[in-house]
Amino acid sequence: MGKILTIHGGVPLKGTVRVGGAKNLVPKAMVASLLGNTPSVLRNVPEIKDVSVVRSLLELHGVNVTQDPQTGDLTMDPTDAKSASNRAIDAHAGDSRIPILFCGPLIHSLGQAFIPDLGGCRIGDRPIDFHLDVLREFGAVVHKGEDGIRISAPQGLSGAKLDLPYPSVGTTEQVLLSAVRARGVTEVRNAAIEPEILDLIALLQKMGAIISVHRDRIIRIQGVDELQGYDHTALPDRNEAASWASAALVTKGDIFVEDAQQRDLTAFLHVYRQIGGEFEVKHNGIRFYHPGGELNPLILETDVHPGFMTDWQQPLVVALTQASGVSVIHETVYENRFGFTEALQRMGATVQVHVDCLGSTPCRFGHRNFKHSAVVMGPVDLRGTDVDIPDLRGGFSHLIAALAAEGTSTVTGIEIINRGYEHFTEKLISLGANVELHEAGVKVGS
Ligand code: EPU
Repeated sequence: MGKILTIHGGVPLKGTVRVGGAKNLVPKAMVASLLGNTPSVLRNVPEIKDVSVVRSLLELHGVNVTQDPQTGDLTMDPTDAKSASNRAIDAHAGDSRIPILFCGPLIHSLGQAFIPDLGGCRIGDRPIDFHLDVLREFGAVVHKGEDGIRISAPQGLSGAKLDLPYPSVGTTEQVLLSAVRARGVTEVRNAAIEPEILDLIALLQKMGAIISVHRDRIIRIQGVDELQGYDHTALPDRNEAASWASAALVTKGDIFVEDAQQRDLTAFLHVYRQIGGEFEVKHNGIRFYHPGGELNPLILETDVHPGFMTDWQQPLVVALTQASGVSVIHETVYENRFGFTEALQRMGATVQVHVDCLGSTPCRFGHRNFKHSAVVMGPVDLRGTDVDIPDLRGGFSHLIAALAAEGTSTVTGIEIINRGYEHFTEKLISLGANVELHEAGVKVGS
């Protein structure tokens, strides 16, 4: 039975929240533990669904995973790794996109991998063609079946010279996790260089991997026969930080985001200030607040790092509904990341979505019928409504719109939010939000 969140809007969010370890690093760091021949320890692990999915998959493959009840630190011992039954792995089909990253490590330790149908957010087709292409370049043989994909490498994996069609985060991770123990040298051009990728590289380096990052998105890896376990503290979640920052602006609040790191949020902070939001960088986090007065509209394009990240777009669009004038947003990373604006319009926002590229950043979606540009007119008074959460970031943006709106909203599908925001209901309550969580007709918190 799903949970229902009732939100009585109009309350400025005020107080302190601490961001957890990055959702877009931690599950991949867990996969990397399979590459070592001794246990790995991962610290700053958030309590989110992707972590429990990957933990189950590691356990299915014989990795002994234990968690410190006080700190939440994970210890992963891969010394008895083994093949799991396809049926057991298949039970995780649709849960997460992380399983595709098991390919390289499983081939290195077991000679083969089975990957169930993949889940993840509904924000476009999210294909895995780049992943399969690079695995083939490493010498893997890919068999696509109805239940999933079987990958084997009878001769093992060999280093390759790769040029990615797009600086894809997941594909770059696939390359790293495969190349570190492949025979010989790998060079990947047009690689992603997001902070989460650099943190994964740092962790692999601790394991003994030989990796160098060069100018112009080039990464070189010299394969080694053996790696040891790591002891690593995950970088803080910059997407969660940006989400709370937007929540402060939208609700005219004042939120100190403990552990938010300026270094990984430069593009976001620049835009935040342009809109009229204020922030104060402290030694242990960043205070985000609405200084009063009008917010400014702007022209915004999402891009790969160091550009304005696609995951920051949806919460910020809600802030733009409160700006005085016309804002234009061009989404260049995903072809279908404006679906969430339909609910915002029901709440009173004025948003038009367009198939044209409303910006100059090179984009793969122009003239292809994808509604990937948006025009937002503000300011408007938002009003509460019924919302069914469509995806992680779109869902968070619905929550903050409901928190700012006049009246009551009823939100279903909030389990999706648990994929990326740990303890979010508790955090909302600690910030003074007037919310109630119901399960099967029972009120469990307010
Ligand atoms: N793409 C392909 N083929 C592929 C792989 C990617 O066409 O084989 C396309 C995608 O469809 C997309 C673009 O390349 O249009 C970029 O995708 P990328 O591979 O970079 O994304 P990802 O690795 O699947 C991660 C994050 C996303 C984040 C993106 C971009 C994780 C688990 N997910 O996805 O996070 O938006 O990078 O930075 O790390 C989120 O946190 O809400 C989220 C969706």
